[in-house]
Amino acid sequence: MNGKMLWGSATASYQCEGAWNEDGKVESMWDHYLHQENLENGDVASDHYHRFREDIRQMAEGGQNAYRFSLSWPRIIKNESGEINEKGLDFYRQMIDACHENGIEPFVTCYHWDLPQYLEEKGGWLNKATAAAFQHYCEVVFKAFNGLVDHWTTFNEPKWFVFSGYMSGNYPPCHKNPQEVVNAAYNVMYANALAVKSFKELGILGSIGIVTSYQTIYGIDDSEACQLAFRNADNYCNNWIIDTACSGTFPSDMVAKLVAEGFDLSIAQPEELQLIKNNTVQFLGMNYYSPQFVKPYTGGETDVKVNNLGKNYKGNMRTVVKNWFEVANDDMTELPRNDWGMIVYPQGLREGLRRNSAKFSGPIYVTENGFGNYEDVHNGPVHDQYRIEYIREHVRYLLKAQSDGVDVRGYFVWSPFDLYSWKNGCEKRYGLVAVDFDHGCKRIPKDSYYWYRDEIASNWLDVR
Ligand code: BG6
Repeated sequence: MNGKMLWGSATASYQCEGAWNEDGKVESMWDHYLHQENLENGDVASDHYHRFREDIRQMAEGGQNAYRFSLSWPRIIKNESGEINEKGLDFYRQMIDACHENGIEPFVTCYHWDLPQYLEEKGGWLNKATAAAFQHYCEVVFKAFNGLVDHWTTFNEPKWFVFSGYMSGNYPPCHKNPQEVVNAAYNVMYANALAVKSFKELGILGSIGIVTSYQTIYGIDDSEACQLAFRNADNYCNNWIIDTACSGTFPSDMVAKLVAEGFDLSIAQPEELQLIKNNTVQFLGMNYYSPQFVKPYTGGETDVKVNNLGKNYKGNMRTVVKNWFEVANDDMTELPRNDWGMIVYPQGLREGLRRNSAKFSGPIYVTENGFGNYEDVHNGPVHDQYRIEYIREHVRYLLKAQSDGVDVRGYFVWSPFDLYSWKNGCEKRYGLVAVDFDHGCKRIPKDSYYWYRDEIASNWLDVR
């Protein structure tokens, strides 16, 4: 650690690279699912695979000193026997080189949801063998890029891809089965510990962390029932990842609750739990977009509704987790939100940073934060004052957390340029730079791009 604060932006391989079947890349579960369902896909996305040099140069010209991106597992490992696709490694070597040439620090995620389809066909994250395959893949990339990368992370947002894949069923493999959530979640946390173990044993330079989709939880009142709902929601959203990865143990009250509710936890073997205990991460990445207001469970079956339709979404986003808690976001009518119903609550970032630093002594990075919106990119530059406001206010609270004593060492805007937003498609835009997907993926900086550059240059003088 050289002590400098990282100010950058973040992407994920499937969401921006395109080139889905070039240079020996095999199918990911997302390629397979979106093709099969005939849904909008990332076959081309932002065409970053062919334009990464221009994009990285643009980040540097935009004053940024770090770029968080993920490696595509199916670009690098060809099959179940673990054979390496050298062209895949070459591609990322060039990306990392381009970062260094431009004074940008590469901040690398090993897994941002694009599981090789050959593993999904063998049960994906429900199969413990996927954890061993992940360890092998991580060892390949750790060795290939050892010394070139200071910050590695194992997983991006276990909660999001496990719950979307096995609970709400809006992401592949589109199951709705709470027992599978438990099994997949366990295998992912075990895979995390296996990768950390390899990282340490191989003596890889730099440090290794995990990235979580952090939701600052707030109970709607101080009643005892609400405090219990708060704890259940915090375990459900945050603690099973943070406590396990950072301290080496699953939250004991959550485990007891799962047992009491009849879940089968036999997947967890004592020697694996010991391995998890012995192999904790060295830093925490927090993706923060929005908080979660919760109230006690009142009744009904578990029901998790996700808005992937933006302003076309009809109905509410009520989430009920049977016997655990209910989400009360719909009751918070006074709070601003975007077209996808995401509440804007920047003070939640300071509170989340404080809570996490109280239980984890390592450094913290805000690895994603940003504002998705519909934008017309065909009629001149986008004047995205709302995004500027969103980022400014979140950085304001990050800086306050720093003054509170939180060891936060970096901030990454999601995203440097527009990209494919999973089930929301490409019209949910987050970029500092617009991508005209209809005209050869032309890049056009938005107002926020120049504003971010100037704020970094002034060290956020007007925000402090
Ligand atoms: C995070 C993910 O959950 O949020 C990204 O790490 C994602 O992959 C981002 O794109 C924004 O969410 P969405 O669903 O609006 O694209």
